Amino acid sequence: MQPFADREAATLRGALASQIAELFQQVATLYPERWEQLGDGVAGPVVAALRKVPRHLFTPGVPLARAYEDVVVVPNSGASGAGLTSVSQPSMIAWMLAQLDVRPGQSVLKVGSGGYQAALLRELVGPDGSVTTLDIAPDVISRARACLDRAGYGDVRTVCADGEYGAPGHGPFDKIIVAVQDWDIPPAWTGQLAPGGRLVVPLLTRGCPGHGRWTTRTGTWSAAATCQPSSCRCRAPGSTTRGRSRWTSPA
Ligand SMILES: C[S@@+](CC[C@H](N)C(=O)[O-])C[C@H]1O[C@@H](n2cnc3c(N)ncnc32)[C@H](O)[C@@H]1O
Repeated sequence: MQPFADREAATLRGALASQIAELFQQVATLYPERWEQLGDGVAGPVVAALRKVPRHLFTPGVPLARAYEDVVVVPNSGASGAGLTSVSQPSMIAWMLAQLDVRPGQSVLKVGSGGYQAALLRELVGPDGSVTTLDIAPDVISRARACLDRAGYGDVRTVCADGEYGAPGHGPFDKIIVAVQDWDIPPAWTGQLAPGGRLVVPLLTRGCPGHGRWTTRTGTWSAAATCQPSSCRCRAPGSTTRGRSRWTSPA
């Protein structure tokens, strides 16, 4: 990319990060009790990561300005050419990351991988931490791998696997974040969490996802009740259909 385009990308990225910082500020003002549930000082590092990670390198073929709008981007992938993954809406990612409360040096698992969020996590854990991201779809994970390498995040581990089983052999994880809607929490996720770890998942309750978080320290569940209509639902191995749950079915 030419230096001019680099500068343009940095300007757009800065504007997006500022917009999200403002959103955090609004939540803190309007919903102080919800804000207090988050860890101390979580917003600053998330905004700094948004300011740094070049989202346009995870959305090839999308106009630069579009890559830095606060919208979900659905790239074409798969033999059918249908969009089977997405690069989630930045403000939604930011809210989930704030709930995850990632600290430097931690080990994080990301289930469902457009690559972008894994890169943000890499920034949050810093040089002493580690990030593993997995996806059930081989084309999605190889696309994420290529984008991560291009953006300079070669040390993020990518795994092609069914997320139901987590990433055995790579845990335990201090944090697990799931970017695919689910009806239930598979035992592998809680089993692969380190003591005091935290899991954030858009759990479907009555068909509507909220970004609940669950922590092993207290064994309690708290829901942030944010609708996420653009997110994919979990898929079974070999399935190319969206909106089908691998785990339990709703009544
Ligand atoms: C909303 S997209 C995730 C991308 C994410 N928005 C991001 O920015 O990184 C959901 C992803 O979950 C993946 N997925 C669906 N079911 C899965 C499963 N059982 N195990 C692992 N990944 C799964 C899909 O292939 C898809 O790429």
